[in-house]
Amino acid sequence: MTTFVAGGTGFIGRRLIPLLVARGEEVVVMDINPQTADYSAYGKQVRVVRGDVSQFDDFQARIVEAKPDRIVNLAYYIGSDLPPRVAFKLNVLGMDNCFEAARLAGVNRVVYASSVAVSGEQKNYGERLVDETDFKHGHVQYAMHKIFNEWQAQDYREKHGMEITTIRPANVTGPDKIFGSVDHVFIVTKPARGEPVTMPYKDAMRAPVHVDEIAEIFARVAMKDKPEHAIYNTGGQTISLGEIADIVREFIPDAQISFDHETGGRERSGNFMIDNSRVVTEFGIQFRPYRERVLQIINEVRKERGLPPLSDH
Ligand SMILES: NC(=O)c1ccc[n+]([C@@H]2O[C@H](COP(=O)([O-])OP(=O)(O)OC[C@H]3O[C@@H](n4cnc5c(N)ncnc54)[C@H](O)[C@@H]3O)[C@@H](O)[C@H]2O)c1
Repeated sequence: MTTFVAGGTGFIGRRLIPLLVARGEEVVVMDINPQTADYSAYGKQVRVVRGDVSQFDDFQARIVEAKPDRIVNLAYYIGSDLPPRVAFKLNVLGMDNCFEAARLAGVNRVVYASSVAVSGEQKNYGERLVDETDFKHGHVQYAMHKIFNEWQAQDYREKHGMEITTIRPANVTGPDKIFGSVDHVFIVTKPARGEPVTMPYKDAMRAPVHVDEIAEIFARVAMKDKPEHAIYNTGGQTISLGEIADIVREFIPDAQISFDHETGGRERSGNFMIDNSRVVTEFGIQFRPYRERVLQIINEVRKERGLPPLSDH
């Protein structure tokens, strides 16, 4: 079977492709920046092509050539500062191009990334877990585009009977993350490099989830032909930046982490209490303790720098 992954040389794609290969899939990766990942170790099992999801004819031609059994779309701008037309072309038109090209090519199975951002701030819900059926309070450019993608996916499901599945990653973490929410990453990677780091709010809340776990979720969901639900939260660890700093200091006692404000970040925080029982129950996803993931990221940075790994004592 063949899986086509658009945006497959990015942060999540680099972890997802090996998991699909391990499941025996032939993988066609399409990306506008095909050189940012090296899949040569997988030989003919992974083919990388250059293509632009915002250009319908280009996207459709790549899909028709690949004849995939399923499509995963990860191509997106992460952030809300882009000029409206630029962001719209990739995020809204690009996603619709994916659904429409899949439909025209007879590919019924599509999985794409939405985001926890659709929920907006946690304060909209109070101190409770938010699930996939809750109202979406997101309001910034990125969130509005994801909300529209979810609506469009539902429209394709209803009008064309397509099996399109939405995955809403929380604050994905990993040493090579450079786009999106990066404070919870830099508070680990900068001390691991011996650099000082200052964050605005110690009480700012996050829901970090390691990119290895996100890739595993995408792989399991994509490989299932008819999941029980249309939308899955991945969830993440409910934790403040101050608490992440405490974990980092356990491993790096001289870490230079400071905060401009000791209090006051919680009410500004995005959705950090997330109900992920759908993905856990149906797909048997297990999350390693977050503390282990912090150590993993520290050690990945140390490895890059030729330093020996730290151990948990
Ligand atoms: N990283 C996170 O924390 C996070 C959290 C929630 C949701 N998500 C979602 O997961 C998906 C993947 O995120 P990521 O972290 O891997 O992002 P990324 O930016 O690392 O990867 C996106 C890939 O899309 C490619 N791309 C950009 N424009 C393209 C175009 N016009 N045509 C084809 N390819 C194009 C990029 O070259 C890149 O390789 C996105 O939809 C993102 O919104 C990510």
